Amino acid sequence: MWTGWWLWSLVAACSADSFRDEAERIMQDTPVVDGHNDLAWQLLDQFNNQLTLEAANLSTLASTHTNIPKLRAGFVGGQFWSVYTPCDTQNRDAVRRTLEQMDVVHRLCQTYPQAFLCVSSSAGIEQAFQEGKVASLIGVEGGHSIDSSLGVLRMLYRLGMRYLTLTHSCNTPWADNWLVDTGDEAAQSHGLSPFGKLVVKEMNRLGVIIDLSHVSVATMKAALQLSQAPVIFSHSSAYSLCAHQRNAAGVPCPLPARQTGPQPSALSPPLPEQNKTGSVVMVDFYNDYVSCRKEATLSEVADHLDHIKKVAGAGAVGLGGDYDGVTRLPVGLEDVSKYPDLIAELLRRNWTEDEVRGVLARNLLRVFRKVEEVSDHTQTPEELPIPLEQLDGSCRTLYGYSKAPSLRRQPGLLLAPLAPLFLSLSSVAP
Ligand SMILES: *[C@@H]1O[C@H](CO)[C@@H](O)[C@H](O)[C@H]1NC(C)=O
Ligand SMILES: *[C@@H]1O[C@H](CO)[C@@H](O)[C@H](O)[C@H]1NC(C)=O
Ligand SMILES: *[C@@H]1O[C@H](CO)[C@@H](O)[C@H](O)[C@H]1NC(C)=O
Ligand SMILES: [Zn+2]
Repeated sequence: MWTGWWLWSLVAACSADSFRDEAERIMQDTPVVDGHNDLAWQLLDQFNNQLTLEAANLSTLASTHTNIPKLRAGFVGGQFWSVYTPCDTQNRDAVRRTLEQMDVVHRLCQTYPQAFLCVSSSAGIEQAFQEGKVASLIGVEGGHSIDSSLGVLRMLYRLGMRYLTLTHSCNTPWADNWLVDTGDEAAQSHGLSPFGKLVVKEMNRLGVIIDLSHVSVATMKAALQLSQAPVIFSHSSAYSLCAHQRNAAGVPCPLPARQTGPQPSALSPPLPEQNKTGSVVMVDFYNDYVSCRKEATLSEVADHLDHIKKVAGAGAVGLGGDYDGVTRLPVGLEDVSKYPDLIAELLRRNWTEDEVRGVLARNLLRVFRKVEEVSDHTQTPEELPIPLEQLDGSCRTLYGYSKAPSLRRQPGLLLAPLAPLFLSLSSVAP
């Protein structure tokens, strides 16, 4: 009896190991490309972006989910580093903070050239794979980072932004966020405003991936309808497995992702269209979004992957762990070293090697290549400014709006309250 039990557990242990070995074998040439990691926010929050402080040394840093040894152990070969600035910077110092977080990502690559390779293309990701480094890309989390300016959007592209999450957990003047669907924020653009549509069009033209984590369902639908390229959900899980409504309004640190996912409910994203366009849902590991409880397990994360595979195909599945942006992670997925255990679980669940390689990197690479294909830098850039009345004017100058023909064509309307300031500025302008 005892011997039998012992033998059984030995067999179980061996087969568990063989899935893990298989995962590592696959990950050797197809490492993880994760959609969302908030290490850059941690570097601001903990060290005010001083990377050379001894305490901030990424070879030894232990106060984060992410450091260099953990990335190596986790077979991470590509990371969209989240460039995140909280919603309370909107209409204030959002652009400055965005630039500073982009600078931190570039300095990571400069400080640790043996670990990180800053790249901005799908080919660059493959090159980093070859060199055994973490391809480091920039995803800007929240449309407020462009301060309603197509000029800022274009310059962020030049500095390396390759996805933009259309909103964080606040409306921008041109796109609504997920809180509109819970009734915690009033609908403003009812999806995308006419200017928001120009933003999406310009993102297609430039080759910036459209990220729909955090946005309202109306925004998702508008963006999916308009976009010429597939989109991503950089860190979102399946709504039908955890219909979580967010509960921490106003928390000024990275807010967890909206539950988006494949489900025929009014508030779930339109999966058939994602399907049609080959988009990818990169699953968030935050407990509250995996299980709708404070606790969760690796196996429950695998359930989300299984579910998205079932309703949209294995080609729609990706990983966007949200490491260092959340406080509670599943047992078994505590930090970035644990990805191979999740891959082993998929193999245990009979995912094929091809499907697993898709989840790891190829699905995202497919989207990225398509976005690059759709981009066209010979097309004339969009120029129409956002209507002045849609901006919060309390903290900004109004240069350019007084004489521009686009404004003259629009009757005064809401400009009236701003008129005194407006006139005084015009009169002092050189
Ligand atoms: C981090 O610490 C290692 C030794 O643990 C050292 O070799 C390396 O130079 C340090 N890097 C930085 C950027 O301080
Ligand atoms: C979505 O993907 C699934 C699985 O690949 C496929 O069977 C289905 O036909 C697709 N649906 C649409 C609308 O493209
Ligand atoms: C995986 O496939 C094997 C062999 O076909 C089968 O016995 C097993 O039940 C499957 N497991 C799952 C989780 O589907
Ligand atoms: Zn987020």
